Amino acid sequence: MKLVKHIANLGYGSRKQVQWLFREGRVTDADGEVLYADDAVPPACVRIDGEPLDPPPGLLLMLHKPVGVTCSTKDAGRLVYDLLPPRYRLRDPVLSTVGRLDRETSGLLLLTDDGQLLHRIIAPKAKLPKVYVATLAEDLRGDEAALFAAGTLLLDGEKTPLLPAELEVLGPRRARLTLHEGRYHQVRRMFAAVGNHVEALHRERVGGLTLGDLPEGQWRALGDEDRARLFTPG
Ligand code: URA
Repeated sequence: MKLVKHIANLGYGSRKQVQWLFREGRVTDADGEVLYADDAVPPACVRIDGEPLDPPPGLLLMLHKPVGVTCSTKDAGRLVYDLLPPRYRLRDPVLSTVGRLDRETSGLLLLTDDGQLLHRIIAPKAKLPKVYVATLAEDLRGDEAALFAAGTLLLDGEKTPLLPAELEVLGPRRARLTLHEGRYHQVRRMFAAVGNHVEALHRERVGGLTLGDLPEGQWRALGDEDRARLFTPG
């Protein structure tokens, strides 16, 4: 791919704007030699204003999503994209969230621009575990774990029962829930089905990946080891 198009696709501007970066001498190689728009230089050797280019397509990011931000590209409020470098929102191929977390849910959110990888993660047959900690409005009754594990629970308005899910009681109003699918508002609807209400929800794990010490509101790019861990649930 031509350098101008590659740089434009990374969100640095339209092709015209990128041409101007070249004309202004802001695009150089690693030794500071000014590059021209038609130079055939590997993107890894290119600098803009002395800085290496953003990573090429094939990105997988982990974000520690705070409560109050939306997994959407256009919403009136704060978006998960506002927590990433501004250029990342303009990339082509687009950086999408891998599934969604509700605005009021915090925790581990993956984003990728790799469509195949996205489908591998969310494909029903992948059954990657997603682990949530829920804080509830009412005390647990005691029969929730058996009900959720049965594989027979039917949510309001649905025709297919939920896959078995594992519930671990952490306190009278706190539970860890492991799901192997991702239906709309699934955790909240499961607790609603047993007469409870989720007051706070946090996702702590997807596959074998956890947030580790990543602070709320921060993100990091995932490398090969993380990718392997994602598909190796612990
Ligand atoms: N289930 C929910 O109810 N909400 C989420 O954000 C994720 C799973």
